[in-house]
Amino acid sequence: MRTYLVTGGAGFIGSNYIHYMFDKYGDEIRIINVDVLTYAGNLENLKDVEGRSNYTFVRADITDKDAIAKIFAENDIDRVVHFAAESHVDRSIKNPEVFVNTNVLGTAVMLNCAKAAWEQPDGSFAEGKKFLHVSTDEVYGSLPEGNGYFYETTPYSPHSPYSASKAGSDMLVKAYMDTYHFPANITNCSNNYGPYQFPEKLIPLMINNALSGKHLPVYGDGKNVRDWLYVMDHAKAIDMVQEKGRLFETYNVGGHNEKQNIEIVETIIDTLLEILPENDPRRANVSRDLIKYVEDRKGHDRRYAIAPDKIMAEIGWEPETMFKDGIKLTIKWYLEHTDWMENVTSGDYQKYYEDMYKNK
Ligand code: NAD
Ligand code: TYD
Repeated sequence: MRTYLVTGGAGFIGSNYIHYMFDKYGDEIRIINVDVLTYAGNLENLKDVEGRSNYTFVRADITDKDAIAKIFAENDIDRVVHFAAESHVDRSIKNPEVFVNTNVLGTAVMLNCAKAAWEQPDGSFAEGKKFLHVSTDEVYGSLPEGNGYFYETTPYSPHSPYSASKAGSDMLVKAYMDTYHFPANITNCSNNYGPYQFPEKLIPLMINNALSGKHLPVYGDGKNVRDWLYVMDHAKAIDMVQEKGRLFETYNVGGHNEKQNIEIVETIIDTLLEILPENDPRRANVSRDLIKYVEDRKGHDRRYAIAPDKIMAEIGWEPETMFKDGIKLTIKWYLEHTDWMENVTSGDYQKYYEDMYKNK
């Protein structure tokens, strides 16, 4: 039975990936989920799988060498899928150091422990061992409006502390592949949306605020463009890269779905009004009048857009969920999981929101 070590599996994409993998492979695989449970990690995201005999959760920090080495020593790990990271740009602008620590140092620890466990006496690596580093399109920097795409060959030009730390982690993975012939892949994906996303990110934040009649804070002129992909399509891409991709290659993941932020916010309002029953008291809160243009994010990248030609041509991956369907699924999920939203927005979240938005 193949054993996966998933880091950051209690976060947004990691938990969706774990659901995807158990739905697809059932009892044919074993998953060990290593997560330190920062504010972004939530075991409630995984309550459907926690009873499985082929699933184990280990609370550990990826920067803790001894803890990670112990997991490799006690288990015959075949695949690593490395999600764990600090992931929010606005937080990275306020507090960059934790991003360097987790994203750069944490990735170095993961690489080193996997190398130590997998390397054979002659310096080669056992057949079938693979490390997949989950990264972002933000490492490529910013594109001009309406012109050009990010390819795997696009030079790195990160602007935020978040994207710089992810670029650093990608470079370490590339260095391990070049120096040791370490069996890895990198995926650089565009913005994800879907269930279990923490409401510091655009889509769940706007859904949550609209339902409670709070302002919808749109940064700058609202015309920054992101390329949105439904999270399960990202999970599928990661699995397909490990199954069918060429080792040592980078694959860009995206579905050609560019939207301006203001279009996203308006779509959320319109969809909420379409879906919410007439007698739902939250309906009265939802209105375009809640939109408030606020001070722009520092160093705000104008446009991201992925060229997914390589993953489509080589591996046959393509997105299954169109944005008009995915956004409805996502909004319905948040409407049906008000307890989840209440739990993640109690406590520290209120302080975060106050600190981040008080001057906006
Ligand atoms: P997230 O913030 O929702 O989850 C991150 C998870 O990592 C959390 O469960 C957290 O507890 C865990 N974690 C953080 N620091 C840790 C540490 N030191 N040790 C162990 N666990 C730790 O993030 P996400 O949106 O699910 O993103 C997952 C990965 O995908 C990240 O590497 C991110 O850069 C990448 N990515 C995200 C997007 C996106 O749109 N969200 C797009 C492309 C790539
Ligand atoms: P975000 O979800 O933080 O993802 P990223 O910065 O990694 O792309 O933000 C998506 C876009 O939405 C980005 O251009 C910033 C903008 N944004 C707002 O306008 N208001 C907000 O409150 C947030 C969180 C984001």
